[in-house]
Amino acid sequence: MPKIAIISASVRRGRNSHRVALFFKKYLEEKNLSSADIVDLAEYDFPLFHERLKHEPNPTEKVLEFAGRIKSADGVIIVTPEYNGGYPASIKNVVDLLYDEWHRKPLVISTVSDGQFGGTQVLVSLHFSLWKIRAWMVPAMFPVPDVDKTFQEDGTPVDKQATDKRAKRFIDELLWCIEAKRRMESDKMN
Ligand SMILES: Cc1cc2nc3c(=O)[nH]c(=O)nc-3n(C[C@H](O)[C@H](O)[C@H](O)COP(=O)(O)O)c2cc1C
Repeated sequence: MPKIAIISASVRRGRNSHRVALFFKKYLEEKNLSSADIVDLAEYDFPLFHERLKHEPNPTEKVLEFAGRIKSADGVIIVTPEYNGGYPASIKNVVDLLYDEWHRKPLVISTVSDGQFGGTQVLVSLHFSLWKIRAWMVPAMFPVPDVDKTFQEDGTPVDKQATDKRAKRFIDELLWCIEAKRRMESDKMN
């Protein structure tokens, strides 16, 4: 079974986008599609970036643990809020921290806002940075508008049927790329 890491990017007190990270965990586990590891940037509370991990002579345990969770994941979902038309500093802070860990990592972005556009203004800028660092950007989107009204605090969607249907399209693309990569890598070993 593949391992999926779900990065919850908001570190804001009283954040709501974390609900969507909880939803994806439940969705993946309920349907037995993958293991799901929520990588919560609020729990890490990293200081502002000083240098890439590979150039850091004395990395902290926390940073090494974070890097290990990304490296060992077969695929990554980033759940990010939209702040002033962009992504929060917390996510760029960790994108820049790693390097090889992102390479060819199948990755999808779910954008979240409490407005009607679902945080979609984040997509182009965050997508570009991750593409630049050579993540494998999976062509799928999962914008969440009105998050405070459409998801409960524990990640339960108000309209489960419609949300699961939309999630299926998003997650299927990610799983396809994870499987394609697995086959490619097992071919190389033969
Ligand atoms: C600093 C800041 C800027 C924001 N800018 C936007 C914005 O440009 N567009 C939008 O739809 N929502 C914006 N919001 C509202 C967020 O979309 C909302 O807080 C949502 O719940 C996701 O963020 P959260 O996980 O931190 O709660 C902003 C919120 C904050 C704190």
